[in-house]
Amino acid sequence: MKLLLINIKELLQVREISPRYISGKEMNILPTLSNAWLLFNGTQIEDYGTMNLPPDGNFAQIIDCTGRFVLPAWCDSHTHIVYAGNREQEFVDRINGLTYLEIAEKGGGILNSAKKLQETSEKELYDQSAARLEEVLYLGTGAIEIKSGYGLTPEAEMKMLRVAKKLAKKYPVAIKTTFLGAHALPTEFKNNKKGYLDLVCNEMIPKVVQEDLAHFIDVFCEEGYFSVEDTERILSEGKKFGLIPKIHVNQFNAIGGVEAGVRHQALSVDHLELLTDEDLNALKNSETMPVALPGCSYFLSIPYTPGRRIIDAGLPLALATDFNPGSSPSGNMNFVVATACIKMKLTPEEAINAATINGAYAMGLSDSHGSITKGKAASVIITEEIPSYGYLPYAFGSNCIDQVILNGRVL
Ligand code: NIG
Ligand code: FE
Repeated sequence: MKLLLINIKELLQVREISPRYISGKEMNILPTLSNAWLLFNGTQIEDYGTMNLPPDGNFAQIIDCTGRFVLPAWCDSHTHIVYAGNREQEFVDRINGLTYLEIAEKGGGILNSAKKLQETSEKELYDQSAARLEEVLYLGTGAIEIKSGYGLTPEAEMKMLRVAKKLAKKYPVAIKTTFLGAHALPTEFKNNKKGYLDLVCNEMIPKVVQEDLAHFIDVFCEEGYFSVEDTERILSEGKKFGLIPKIHVNQFNAIGGVEAGVRHQALSVDHLELLTDEDLNALKNSETMPVALPGCSYFLSIPYTPGRRIIDAGLPLALATDFNPGSSPSGNMNFVVATACIKMKLTPEEAINAATINGAYAMGLSDSHGSITKGKAASVIITEEIPSYGYLPYAFGSNCIDQVILNGRVL
């Protein structure tokens, strides 16, 4: 079935040949086509051009985009969208002065979510997660990574990943899954970290891989959670089973995890609210994508990832939501893009590149997502009538999206 978009005011992120990712100064360039058309054939982009040379043929549906911009759907490379319940009580505790780490030490935080998730049936977990996923699809997300890590037992971790896999079957969105068994130390293992690491390595990883439930392996590398040494053990074990590393690192402390990630050829290192010169140097000459999560900085009132410094050092940067109940209960990529501009001083061009093509790379989807390129997924956002694309991050609290098309399906 052919679907044609005509009279597009400006088609954004048009790449004849798509690079895998964009770095440094190049991030400030967003290739566009004015007065354009875009043709989908089923689930893929077939062709595009300008309205003075319209395509001929028969089209099942034509959408007139007069006054509107079209861009690739957002690529959200870091979420924990499968979770049970919420944590608004901790939100109030933080307003009253407790820190994220103090709440965690009281048994709140990740362990609180894990308890809820263990007690929630797979069906109920699916329903709660599907509602969140539907919300973010209408906000323009067309590819998303989903982590486990609120199970912390073999059964509950597998339950989370099965739910993510079911979501991937049901919805027209690309979903990549990540096993994050080492997200926190369960209470039963409070004095036996080695025991839990053994469980993750010897039981959970093989089971997850046997059921084909994950593409990536992740660790929360942080003081009070998992050390660099723990992280390296888990990444090495995951790699033996074909899982590609992606890590949570430098959220509250810089403990050398970035270098470890690069050493293990991590696809991405995420958070980086704290970043040393050594970390920055480690990222140079690597294929590891730094990922900033400005929604988390906003919600926890912690520093923003120094995105300007990262890009000015010639490196790439991706943006993601970190959608989760504790540190970022929002999966709105439009807000993330706006916040990256407002608080991290990215230009709209840099932020859009970071949230599309670089996000796609950070979840191994650069061949199929993140740009308007022939053969890539027919997954785009059609904006409302707006004056310029810079208006998207500028009007940070408004929903400027008129329609979302995912895999050729108009939502
Ligand atoms: O990416 N930092 C570790 N994990 C999540 C938050 C987990 C939680 O608080 O529930 C994050 O911010
Ligand atoms: Fe996270």
